[in-house]
Amino acid sequence: MREGYESSASVNSDNQGYEHHHKSARIKLRGLSPSIFGSALDATRRIFPKVSDQQDIEEAYRMSLEPEIFESELKKQGIRSLKYWVATKSKKSHEIAGVTGLETMLEDEPEVAWLGWFGVTPEFRGKGFGRSLLKTTISKARTIGFDKLRLWTTTAPEEIAAQDMYEDFDFRLTGDEEIPNSAEFKLYREKTL
Ligand SMILES: CC(C)(COP(=O)(O)OP(=O)(O)OC[C@H]1O[C@@H](n2cnc3c(N)ncnc32)[C@H](O)[C@@H]1OP(=O)(O)O)[C@@H](O)C(=O)NCCC(=O)NCCS
Repeated sequence: MREGYESSASVNSDNQGYEHHHKSARIKLRGLSPSIFGSALDATRRIFPKVSDQQDIEEAYRMSLEPEIFESELKKQGIRSLKYWVATKSKKSHEIAGVTGLETMLEDEPEVAWLGWFGVTPEFRGKGFGRSLLKTTISKARTIGFDKLRLWTTTAPEEIAAQDMYEDFDFRLTGDEEIPNSAEFKLYREKTL
C-alpha cells in the first residue's frame, strides 16, 4: 500500500459500497478564506484552464466570502448561497490537491444544492483524491441538511473521467442541453442524499 493512501473495503452510506475496488486518498477540507484565496485561485487556474472559467471562479469565490457586499450581484445571478473549500493532504499541508463547493439557487427548493467548481489539481489526479473529495463534499451536503445534490458537466473529452465517477456515485442523468456555438452538450445530474 502506498503511503498516504488507504484501500477502502468498507460499505458506507456515501456510495453504497461501490468503492471497494477503488483507490481513496486521505484529504483535509478547509473552507475558503482570505488567507488561502490566492493559492486556491492558483489551483483552480490549473484545474480549469479556460480563461472564462477563471473569471467566473474568481467572482464566485469573492462573492462567497463577502455575500453582503455582493447581494445585488448574487440576486441577479439567481444565487442564494455559495460555499467553497480547498482540499489538502493533511491539516499541516498547504499544497492544494483539489477544490469543491456547494451552491444554492433562488429558483430551487432550499433542500437542493449544486456541486460547484469541483476538481483535482493535475499532479494529484488518478490517486483517489477525486473520489475522496466527492465523498467528503457529499457528507458536507448531508450535514448541512440538503437532500439533493445536483451538478452539470459537459460532454467535452476532458470531463470523461468526471462522468465515470459521477455515474459510480449514483448521480443520475436528469437532462441535457445544447451549448450554443459548440458541439458539446451540458449534462445535468442529481443524487438523492
Ligand atoms: C474528474 C477529476 C475530479 C477526477 O479526479 P481524480 O483525483 O483523478 O479521481 P480519482 O483518482 O479519485 O478517480 C476517480 C474516478 O474517476 C474516473 N477516472 C479517473 N481518471 C480517469 C481517466 N483518466 N479516464 C477515465 N476515468 C477516470 C474513474 O472512474 C475513477 O475511479 P476508479 O479509478 O476508482 O475506477 C479530475 O480528473 C479533474 O479535476 N478533472 C478536471 C476538472 C473536472 O472535470 N471537474 C469535474 C467537472 S466540473
